[in-house]
Amino acid sequence: MWGGRFAEGPSAIMREINASIPFDKALWRQDIAASKAHVAMLGAQGIVTPADAASIADGLDQVAAEYEKDGVPEDWDLEDIHMTTESRLAELVGPVAGRLHTARSRNDQVATDFRLWVREAMEQVDAGLEQLQRALVARADEHAASIMPGFTHLQIAQPVTLGHHLMAYYEMIRRDRSRFADARARLNESPLGSAALAGTGFPIDRDMTAHALGFDGPTRNSLDAVSDRDFALDYLMAAAQCSLHLSRLAEEFIIWASQPFGFVRLPDALSTGSSIMPQKKNPDAAELVRGHAGRIIGCTTALMVTMKGLPLAYSKDMQDDKPPVFEAASLLALSIAAMTGMVADSSFRTDRMRQAAELGYATATDLADWLVREADIPFREAHHITGAAVKLAESKGVALDALSLEELQAIDPRVDERVFAALSVDASVASRSSYGGTAPERVREQVAHARRMLGIDE
Ligand code: ARG
Repeated sequence: MWGGRFAEGPSAIMREINASIPFDKALWRQDIAASKAHVAMLGAQGIVTPADAASIADGLDQVAAEYEKDGVPEDWDLEDIHMTTESRLAELVGPVAGRLHTARSRNDQVATDFRLWVREAMEQVDAGLEQLQRALVARADEHAASIMPGFTHLQIAQPVTLGHHLMAYYEMIRRDRSRFADARARLNESPLGSAALAGTGFPIDRDMTAHALGFDGPTRNSLDAVSDRDFALDYLMAAAQCSLHLSRLAEEFIIWASQPFGFVRLPDALSTGSSIMPQKKNPDAAELVRGHAGRIIGCTTALMVTMKGLPLAYSKDMQDDKPPVFEAASLLALSIAAMTGMVADSSFRTDRMRQAAELGYATATDLADWLVREADIPFREAHHITGAAVKLAESKGVALDALSLEELQAIDPRVDERVFAALSVDASVASRSSYGGTAPERVREQVAHARRMLGIDE
C-alpha cells in the first residue's frame, strides 16, 4: 500500500526541494566567468594541459553563447547552474570537461559567483542613486527660494524652501551610496580556491583567479570563505536602509499629491486612474515604492534568519541566500527608477505651498523672536503675545502679516511697524541662514556643493 509511494515520492520531493536552477540560473554569466578564470589558472599551473584548458575554455564560450540565445535550460536533475553548465560542457567537449572541477568545489564556486553578482548589483544601484541625486539637485536648484511649510508632527511649523526639503533627500541618498561603496570594498575578496571547505592540495594560484575576476585578492580563510554571506547581508542592509529613504520620499509625494494639500501634480506616466471614479489620479507608483520597502526589509530579515544558526562551513540552507537578494535587487532598482521619474517630472504647485505656509502661521516663531529681540520681552511672554495674534488672524482667516499695525498693537503696544519685515514667509526663510539652514543662499550653497560632488561642475 505504501510501497509505490515510497519508491517514487521521496525522490520526486528531493529533486524538487534540492533544485536551485529555477533561480540560480541568474548567475550564469558569473558562473562562466569564474570557470574560465579557474581553468586558465589550472592550465597556467600545469594542473591540466594547455590543450585541455583551451578546449574547456572554448566549450564554456559555446555554452555562454547558447544561454545568451536560448536561455538556461531548467532540469531539476541537474540541480543548479553549476551542474547544468558542466553537463552541457561535457556534451560539447567530451570527457575533458570533467577536468574543470579539479581543485574546486561547488561551495567556493557558488560563493564566488554570488559575490560577482552582488558586486554588479551594487554598481547598478550606485548608478541609479546618482541619477536620483541629479534629479533632486536639479529640482532643488530650481526651487531654492520656493516657500513651503516645514512640518513637525505633520503640523505646520516654520516656513522652509522646497529646495531645502529636496536636498534633505539628497543627503540620505549620499549616505546610501557610501554604504554601498563600503559594502563593495568589503566584498571584493575572492573565495575561489577555498574548495569544499579546507582548501586544496593542488598547486593553485589564487591570486591569479582573484585578479582575473576583478577581486583585490583571495580570501584568507577557506572555512569562512565558503560559508560567509556577509557581502549579501551588507548589500541587503544597505538596500533596506535605502528603501526606507525612498519610502519616506514616496510618502511625501503621496501626501503632497492629495487634494487638501495639492502641493504637487504627479507625472501622468507615474500615476493611474480609477476604474470607477473618473476624477481620480492615484499615486500608485509612490505607494508601491512605499510597499516595496516592506518587502526589501523582509528579504533582509529572511537572509539574516537563514544564516543565524549555521555552523561552519557550508550547509544547504545557504542555497536559500539567493532569492531574497534577487528579489530585493529588482524591487530596489524599480523603486529608484520610479522615484527618479517622480522627482524629475512632477510639477510643484509653489503657489499652494506658499499659501499653506502663510495661512498656517508658519512665521509665528518669527514674531515671538522679533518681540524678544526688538522689544526685549522675555520669550515666554512673547510666545503668549504671539498666540493671541495667531488667534486673531485665524478668526479673520488671514495671514499674520495681513493683520494691521493697530490690531497688533491692541494685543501688545510694544509692537511697531518694523515687525512686518519679520512676518513674511520670505523674510522668515531668509533669516534662517545658519550653516545647513533653509535660507535660499544656504540652499544654493549646498546645491553648488552637490553639483561639484556629482561632477556636474568643476
Ligand atoms: N546550489 C548550491 C547553492 O546554491 C551550490 C552549492 C552546493 N554545495 C553542496 N555542498 N551541495 O548553495
